[in-house]
Amino acid sequence: MNVMQQPHRDEGTAYELRAPQIKTDLVEVGRGTPMGELLRRYWHPIGLASYANGTPRKVRALGEDLILFRDGAGKAGLVHARCCHRGTTLYYGKVEERGLRCCYHGWLFDTEGRVLEQPCEPEGGLFRDKARQPWYPVEEGYGLIFAYMGPPEKKPVLPRYECLEVMGDGEFIETDDSSLGGGGPQVIPCNWLQHYENVVDPFHVPVLHASFSGAQFTMAMASMPQVTFEMSPRGVLVRSTRTQEDGKIFYRVTEAAIPTLRVVPDPRVSKFARVESIGWVLPIDDTSFRIYVAGRSRQKGDLGKKRSKFSGKYWWDMTEEEHQREPGDYEAQVGQGPITVHSEEHFAQSDRGIVMIRRMLQDQLDAMKAGRDPIGISFDPNAAPVVFEAGNYIREA
Ligand code: FES
Ligand SMILES: [Fe+2]
Repeated sequence: MNVMQQPHRDEGTAYELRAPQIKTDLVEVGRGTPMGELLRRYWHPIGLASYANGTPRKVRALGEDLILFRDGAGKAGLVHARCCHRGTTLYYGKVEERGLRCCYHGWLFDTEGRVLEQPCEPEGGLFRDKARQPWYPVEEGYGLIFAYMGPPEKKPVLPRYECLEVMGDGEFIETDDSSLGGGGPQVIPCNWLQHYENVVDPFHVPVLHASFSGAQFTMAMASMPQVTFEMSPRGVLVRSTRTQEDGKIFYRVTEAAIPTLRVVPDPRVSKFARVESIGWVLPIDDTSFRIYVAGRSRQKGDLGKKRSKFSGKYWWDMTEEEHQREPGDYEAQVGQGPITVHSEEHFAQSDRGIVMIRRMLQDQLDAMKAGRDPIGISFDPNAAPVVFEAGNYIREA
C-alpha cells in the first residue's frame, strides 16, 4: 500500500466542522420571533420598585428600549423610549404630576401613553387623541416591577408564589438587582438560555464550583450527587442526593420554572428548608441578560450572602489571572459565546436536564403555534399561589 492510499489518522480536526448552527427559535427574544412571542406571554420583572421614580430610567428588556417612571400619583409607567412625535428619547424627559413630558416639543404622556398635552399645537392639541406613546402594562409585587409585553388580550394575572407569600417568623421580602446567581456582573453578556440551562445542570456543581476552582459554595455541595430529573407542570425538577459523613442524606431540589424562573435553594446551604428566593432571568436582548431576585430574609443583606466568593474575593475584585484560575458560572456561560453554537454540542447522559428544558420550551412554542396557551399562566385573579418543591432537605438514611 503506498502512502497515498493509507486511511488517514487525523480524524476530527477542526477543518471538518460544519458551518455553525444556532437554534434561533429557542434563543431569540425579539418581537415576532417564536421565543420572543412565548416570553411575551408572561410577566417579567424589569426593575426594583424603587427604579420607578421622578427621574426617567432606561430599561432594556426582550430587545426593546423602554423608559420607566412614576407619576405624581405614585403610578409606575413603562413606555417606549422613542417619543411618538418625532422620535427623540424620553430619557431626557421630565416627570410631572400627570406623567412624562418629552424634552423636544413638550408632549406630555400619562403612564399608559395617552397624550395629555401638545403645547406647540393650537389649543394644546385638538387632535392629541390621534397619537399614543407605545406603552406596556406594569404591576408591582415582591418589591419588583413586572411588565407584560405581549398581546393585550392574552394578559395573564401576575402570578403569586407560596415561597414569597408565606413568611416564617420575622421574615420579610428582600430584593436584589445585581444578578445574584449569575456569578459575575449585573449585565451578563451572553444569551439568557445559556444561564437558564445551567439551572438544570447539577453535575457542573462539583466540578466548576468545587474540584476545579476550589469550594465556591460549601463542602456539602462538593461531592458528585445522585440525580434524577423530572418534568413538572411548571418546568423541570432536579433532585440531587448526597450521603453525608454522618450517614444522613442531603436532598436538594432545584427547579427551572417556565419561562425564566430559577428556583434554586441557597447553594451555600446555610439551613435546611424550602426554597427562600426566586430569580427571574430577564433577557435584555439576544446576547445579554440580567437576573432579578426576591426572597425571604430575616436580616437585610441575607440575600447577598448567597453570592459566591472566589478564594474570599468577590468576582469584581478579581484580576483576569484570578478569573482564569478560578472560573465560575459567569466564565463558563459567557465562555460559550454570545450565543452558543448548538450544532457543535455533544450531549451526554448528565445533560438530561438540558434536553428536558429545551424540549419543554419547544413544546410551548408548538402549543402556541397550535393556538393553545403555554404552561404556567393563569387568567384567574383568585388563582392559588404557585408552590415549589425546591429546597435543601436532610433525610435519615
Ligand atoms: S419628539 Fe417628543 S415631543 Fe417632539
Ligand atoms: Fe453554577
